[in-house]
Amino acid sequence: MDDAAPESGERNGREGRAGGAPDSRGRLDPRLPLGVFDSGLGGLTVVREIAAALPGERILYLGDTARVPYGTRSAATVVRYAQGCARALVDRGVKALVVACNTVSAVALDVLRADLDLPVIGVIEPGARAAVSASRRLRIGVLGTTGTVASGAYPRAVLSVSTRAEIVAHPAPLLVPLVEEGWLDGEVPRLAVRRYLEPLARADVDVIVLGCTHYPLLRPIIEEEARAMMGDVQVVDSAHATAAELAGLLAERSLAIPEPRGDIELLVTDRPRSFAEVTTRFLGGPPREVHVIDL
Ligand code: DGL
Repeated sequence: MDDAAPESGERNGREGRAGGAPDSRGRLDPRLPLGVFDSGLGGLTVVREIAAALPGERILYLGDTARVPYGTRSAATVVRYAQGCARALVDRGVKALVVACNTVSAVALDVLRADLDLPVIGVIEPGARAAVSASRRLRIGVLGTTGTVASGAYPRAVLSVSTRAEIVAHPAPLLVPLVEEGWLDGEVPRLAVRRYLEPLARADVDVIVLGCTHYPLLRPIIEEEARAMMGDVQVVDSAHATAAELAGLLAERSLAIPEPRGDIELLVTDRPRSFAEVTTRFLGGPPREVHVIDL
């Protein structure tokens, strides 16, 4: 596989698009695609749920593969990267933005909402709601990136849903590079997962939130290991709940597209071929073109 040369240039991602700015009465055009971004592949777990919940919608996805991982960087750097991704999508014309990254949702959501004239949805609040509704004993464990855990965003979001909940959050930084490498099964990810689950098992949680959009790609291993260690434990992620929240928001603002013409356009900032390979495995269907852009 040769990832050295971009297979297409900046132009490709922009072709035929008008900017997505609201008209003079503040209305966004419902025919525009939804913008979705993450540091890399992880956000595709959210794209898959959006495509299932809203099959008529076009999705413009950006994976910032040149700068992944975000989870080990300072909040200030993540905010700067997030602003670059958001601007690239808004400039191409989108009607709403889904921040399919917990790390960005944890530290940059308010900045993006203040910067942009369109609806912006993150993944942490939907994830927190999914966790509370899946939990019987309200003992909730969270695995996330170092940045997400350090931000305290999950405990805040869970406690805003239920003040009785107890939350234990632990970073699992090695899981993001494993996913980006496509290393989704075998002894290496299994050992890493087992190690990261230990503090959650000690805390006797009954729900584990996958607080990073990369982690659902390792879900089979995480579920197997969690059940082996803890017995009856639920593993939840925010993708389904985020798609449901997005569907509600589009309907409420008359921004939904009813006819089935959905399509997914993929942009990355580096390594388009390896991205395309995992994307095909993950989203199914025929191989998709992946365009490289500069931020
Ligand atoms: N998938 C992202 C998240 O949900 C980012 C992971 C990373 O780049 O470290 O946090």
